[in-house]
Amino acid sequence: MSRYAHITAWGMYAPEHVMTNDDLAQMVDTNDEWIVSRTGIRERRIAADYETTSTMATEAALNALKRSSLDPHDLDLIIVATSSPDYLFPATACLVQDNLGASRAGAFDLLAACTGFIFALNMAADSIRSGSIENALVIGAETLSRLVNWQDRRTCILFADGAGAFVLEGRDSPGGILSGVMRSDGSGRELLILPGGGSRHPANAETVEQGLHTVQMKGRDVFRFATRAMASATRESVAKAGLSLDDVQLIVPHQANRRIIETAARLLRVPMDRFMINLDRYGNTSTASIPMAVCEAVDGGRIKAGDNIVLVGFGGGLTWGAMTIRWVSRERRVTRTQRMRRNILFSLAKLRSLIRRIIRRVEGLIWGAVSRRK
Ligand code: ACO
Repeated sequence: MSRYAHITAWGMYAPEHVMTNDDLAQMVDTNDEWIVSRTGIRERRIAADYETTSTMATEAALNALKRSSLDPHDLDLIIVATSSPDYLFPATACLVQDNLGASRAGAFDLLAACTGFIFALNMAADSIRSGSIENALVIGAETLSRLVNWQDRRTCILFADGAGAFVLEGRDSPGGILSGVMRSDGSGRELLILPGGGSRHPANAETVEQGLHTVQMKGRDVFRFATRAMASATRESVAKAGLSLDDVQLIVPHQANRRIIETAARLLRVPMDRFMINLDRYGNTSTASIPMAVCEAVDGGRIKAGDNIVLVGFGGGLTWGAMTIRWVSRERRVTRTQRMRRNILFSLAKLRSLIRRIIRRVEGLIWGAVSRRK
């Protein structure tokens, strides 16, 4: 019997602090009119000092799990797609696993810049369809505000912070993720790059002085690539699902720039009212942008059970990809008792983490004493 990967729950998190274009105009030589006309962005959310990619990813995951019948310890796999992890290692996904108390889950990060969420969703869906796992939590989360040069007006106006999460589950009934397309072209690596801090340019005083630890972008080249990539990946994914563009109710694109989406819409000959756009309020949150836009589209009634939707993204690498999904999930009614039980489990996760650290410490002391005696 065929297995299908369904999206059964979704959640998002946006930091509280809103940074408007006027706020940016106080920092660099720009203005609201320029930013709105060239990008469509009016404001964005910026993480508080105490927030990181893993804390925002955890919040989005908790919001998704609140809608799910699964408890954290039921999860088989956690993938966090991010370009702004808490650390180079361990994976941000492991921090999320610990925060949630997802005691049985394997956890890893996936790096494919802004296309990361599409790639992660595709990998998780394939693992479910193959039967190797029953469910997965897929998260896109970013703290890009820590990686931009706040003196560079060409990039700091674009990028922002946030997180979105989907719960995927295997079902025997048809629907869910119908097709996925993943593409890359490393010859365009310099178009969107954060050069410092890796093995090529390890962090030192020189790399800091040269500004290698912040995002560098050739905006016009990315723009040209993005419009073509979005159109071709959308067409390919829809055809792979055995559908035509007329069968698709909503396209949820990576929220980078309104003009990119408008150009792609023209290339696809799809009217703009069939595209979900919320970049005016959140800016470009990279891997988080697609799941955040899906959450708002479902909550706003723009995605309904039975709809065919396309998620399409592009980003550094270069990478691009799309997925066609038959949305079959309806909002689950969660009872008060279920909510209370879930809240207790979430609080216990912190205790579980503390106990495991104490046990590790005690084990270390015992082993130390034993090896000294030998
Ligand atoms: N305010 C005012 N003027 C500005 C600003 C600003 N914030 N930024 C640039 N300018 C100026 C430039 O200096 C230039 O002036 P000049 O002609 O005197 O030299 C002029 O505006 C035009 O600059 P361009 O870079 O050619 O402007 P463009 O119309 O291409 O818009 C933009 C720039 C918005 C960055 C656009 O190229 C774009 O959106 N590209 C795609 C970027 C993108 O989506 N990146 C994310 C990809 S996803 C991922 O992987 C994270």
